[in-house]
Amino acid sequence: MVPLEGFTTLRIGGPARELVEATTEGDLIDAVREADERGDRVLVLGGGSNLVVADAGFDGRVARVATRGVSLSREGERVAVRAAAGEPWDALVARLVDEGLAGVECLAGIPGLVGATPVQNVGAYGQEVSDTITRVRAWDRRDGRVVELAAGQCDFGYRDSLFKRDARDRYVVLAVTFALRPGGAPALRYGELTRALEGRDATLATVRDAVVSLRRAKGMVLDAGDPDSQSAGSFFVNPVVDEDTARGAEARARASGALREGESMPRFAAPGGRVKLAAGWLIERAGVAKGTRLGNAAVSQKHSLALVNRGGATARELLALAAMVRDAVRARLGVTLTPEPVFAGFDRDDPLASG
Ligand code: EPU
Repeated sequence: MVPLEGFTTLRIGGPARELVEATTEGDLIDAVREADERGDRVLVLGGGSNLVVADAGFDGRVARVATRGVSLSREGERVAVRAAAGEPWDALVARLVDEGLAGVECLAGIPGLVGATPVQNVGAYGQEVSDTITRVRAWDRRDGRVVELAAGQCDFGYRDSLFKRDARDRYVVLAVTFALRPGGAPALRYGELTRALEGRDATLATVRDAVVSLRRAKGMVLDAGDPDSQSAGSFFVNPVVDEDTARGAEARARASGALREGESMPRFAAPGGRVKLAAGWLIERAGVAKGTRLGNAAVSQKHSLALVNRGGATARELLALAAMVRDAVRARLGVTLTPEPVFAGFDRDDPLASG
């Protein structure tokens, strides 16, 4: 039995029956294949920054991804960067920015490993990894072979991909290739980021630094000195809803007095005429204040969308808080929030579903 809480940024969760650390691609494949052949459950563990482990732990094999290696090669106008799944993401971003390669500078300060980035199409401040990913190398557990998937096959969407949806648990990401622009300009697509850079030259490095400062102010940079960073980042995805639901939420917020005269609800255009709402805003306006506690779990004091472990929280407390938040938003604003993290050791993939 191996305690898992130290492998998660939330620092929550019971033990795993077995943990295998894989430092080579071959070891990682073997670790998963062996367990699959035995009929054991498998949890592929990266940085543990988007993971909630049950209090009872995980009754199966945890394959910890510790593969390393980054290679750069010129591909026409771009530089192809191939990184092993176990490479720490933030260090990779720092290196690419220092080398003058544009395309991931807004994704600085994000915890976790490279292999997790395509799974939920990691994104922040106007950039998503799907903007630059060209290939994903993966172990196909169903067919028992290594595959190279082109970006177009990965079905990327907002916080979504083939790896998360249709083929959940089918692929183990082994390496990811990104195409970056040498000497390219930084992406300035997020109002908050553009404002933070006012009066300064926007270079890859200043954008990266500004992103890290913004994240830090929201408790979204791992820091032993910041209790609000003991979280899994955003606990819910921003809901993408139809126009009627968006209007309904705004009308209800207005009727309840949560939306004041002259104020409007934040909303962003999403594909297919849909509307993306700001989950953090909905949580606040549903009456759940920052810092709200349930046992040792709490809503972050810096950002309503992060649920944090204030010290000694259990998964049970965290999920009770998450359910309370979700129920408040549903009851007051008519929008149902969906959790973002991966859950391990629970009876269902989404332990919040159906109450
Ligand atoms: N807001 C509030 N109260 C809060 C926080 C936010 O009202 O406490 C409202 C504000 O109106 C704000 C809006 O929500 O303008 C958006 O907030 P923010 O810019 O912080 O971004 P977010 O939508 O809450 C998303 C990602 C983050 C990413 C940021 C920046 C999701 C689920 N989260 O958060 O990603 O860093 O945008 O691009 O899409 C993560 O996934 O773990 C994560 C941290």
